[in-house]
Amino acid sequence: MKDQEQKEQKEQKEQTGRQTIFSGIQPSGILTLGNYLGALKNWVMLQDSYDCIYCVVDMHALTVRQVPAELRRHAYEALAVYIACGIDPDKCILFVQSHVPAHAELSWILSCYTMFGELSRMTQFKDKSAKNTDNINAGLFTYPVLMAADILLYQANLVPVGDDQRQHIEITRDIAERFNGIYGPTFTVPEGYIPTTGMRIMSLTEPEKKMSKSDDNINAYISILDSRDAIMRKFRRAVTDSESSVRRGEGKDGINNLMKIYSCFTGKDDSEIEALFEGRGYGEFKTAVGEVVADALAPVKTRYDELMSDKSYLEGIMKRGAESAAGIAARTLSRVYRKIGFTQIKN
Ligand code: TRP
Repeated sequence: MKDQEQKEQKEQKEQTGRQTIFSGIQPSGILTLGNYLGALKNWVMLQDSYDCIYCVVDMHALTVRQVPAELRRHAYEALAVYIACGIDPDKCILFVQSHVPAHAELSWILSCYTMFGELSRMTQFKDKSAKNTDNINAGLFTYPVLMAADILLYQANLVPVGDDQRQHIEITRDIAERFNGIYGPTFTVPEGYIPTTGMRIMSLTEPEKKMSKSDDNINAYISILDSRDAIMRKFRRAVTDSESSVRRGEGKDGINNLMKIYSCFTGKDDSEIEALFEGRGYGEFKTAVGEVVADALAPVKTRYDELMSDKSYLEGIMKRGAESAAGIAARTLSRVYRKIGFTQIKN
């Protein structure tokens, strides 16, 4: 199986010269600086060396109760944020999941090759059902199958995701291998592309916790669209330790985090930063971090505002993306239908 898998992936790579990357983004509100540094900047880089497909996964979002008007708005916002951050719709395929019916279609097929026991062991299902005790719906349970369908439809080689998605990539591989084992090579078995914990940006108020947009305290995170004033204020208030010299160290989570952020935007390493802020206090350093972040995010916000005021442009992107995605997805789905024994009528 391993050999076959490698052979297939090699063949695909030879045909197109490039590997395929697929990732999904939940349309659940504006992203944070953590998402930007941990994932988005990377995705922008990847689009030059891979065939990248990025999907706004509105069908996944439905597993928790949504306000319809908000869900709709969030899909536009997600698209606008990604483009504003540098994802180029001319270089990659950017589309909305519900616009390509093949996701739901393949998901049903794959659910017949996924075991109840496997899904019951998923930690995200256990966590989410513990949090939403009044809405433990079947979609929450079969969420990983839909995710597998997303990835397998496009024969993706690599799937850039956060560490929390590791188990979902694992089950996708298991489903693909199981299907390939029964019907012969059909799906590329994907690999996760997971950033090292070193790329993790921490909360500004509790730096031992990951920065999260669902934090109750808005001072804990920087939104990609925060104003310069808000950014400066949040960094000035960032929790640090009782020392005063800017130096990386054990138990100095706050300063370590600020140094990492500063380094991401300036390219300076720890010793350069330490030398630069030698003899200057935390206050000055925090202001400097706020400034580099605000400078970098200002053009993102400007571009975002432009895009959000041009709905028809965004709709054009959605349409174009959906058409390209549907073309690729249809090929995989038709192959699957043939292999499993569905009759197919030519039109
Ligand atoms: N489950 C992913 C998350 O919450 C989102 C997602 C859905 C996804 N389908 C995907 C990610 C396919 C990568 C590939 O982050």
